[in-house]
Amino acid sequence: MSERYAVIGQPVAHSKSPWIHAQFARATRQDIDYGLIEAPADGFTGAADEFRTAGGKGLNVTLPFKEDAYQYCAQLSARARDARAVNTIRFGTETFGDNTDGVGLVRDLANLGADLRGSRVLLMGAGGAARGVVGALVEAGVAGLTIANRTESKARAVATRFRGVSASGYEALEPHFDFVINATSAGLAGASPGVPPDVLARAKLAYDMVYGRDTPFLAAARAAGVKTCDGLGMLVEQAAESFFVWRGVRPDTAAVLQELRGR
Ligand code: ATR
Repeated sequence: MSERYAVIGQPVAHSKSPWIHAQFARATRQDIDYGLIEAPADGFTGAADEFRTAGGKGLNVTLPFKEDAYQYCAQLSARARDARAVNTIRFGTETFGDNTDGVGLVRDLANLGADLRGSRVLLMGAGGAARGVVGALVEAGVAGLTIANRTESKARAVATRFRGVSASGYEALEPHFDFVINATSAGLAGASPGVPPDVLARAKLAYDMVYGRDTPFLAAARAAGVKTCDGLGMLVEQAAESFFVWRGVRPDTAAVLQELRGR
């Protein structure tokens, strides 16, 4: 019988994860069934317990439950602890929580030809999405990572937990970053986080972790002649790493991303 997995979130109806995992399962000949669980805002624990009791083997966790999932798991990977957020749960004797968002971003950047080693990276935002990727960017060997946030104190609180990471407001940023990554939710509200134009113009790549829409940040970067990319590749790469955590098999991502882009 197929082993059961699901993505849990609110809202979750338009999630691409079931399709992505179905492609991975087909390509790697893994017998899994992957569904959707829409839980009420205060209902993460009940829904996760119910799925596990019914024999579920693992969950992907999306907004707004990544911090609930972090609290829920008895065992945590180092990268989940770094992020203080969980996007992947594996049910076994213990409930194991992991975070594959950071490795997903770093692999997508590598696929795009962005060499992080020795580079200067500006990460905008200090919420859950940003926290999920700081550790992986540091491990990728960046020469400098600056976290900029509208509320600077929040950027500082994240930065102090990592060696070599600094915090800033937007106005004080110097134009010396190779890669500018938008991890704010500003684009979802049709806004841009407020990166100074000279900082953006100097970048080799402007990356928005949001996917499926052209954000004002990406539009501004394009207008400045900067190469841009949305977060669709990160979505596929984090899914592949979750698949590996569950099944011990690493699916190929390129064909899945290509097909997703063409849809
Ligand atoms: P997520 O889990 O998606 O990161 P979050 O934890 O609510 O969501 O964090 C949202 C992030 O986007 C924060 O860094 C927020 O900045 P503040 O900490 O100052 O609130 C940032 N953000 C949201 N809207 C923004 C806007 N219009 N301009 C700049 N930053 C914005």
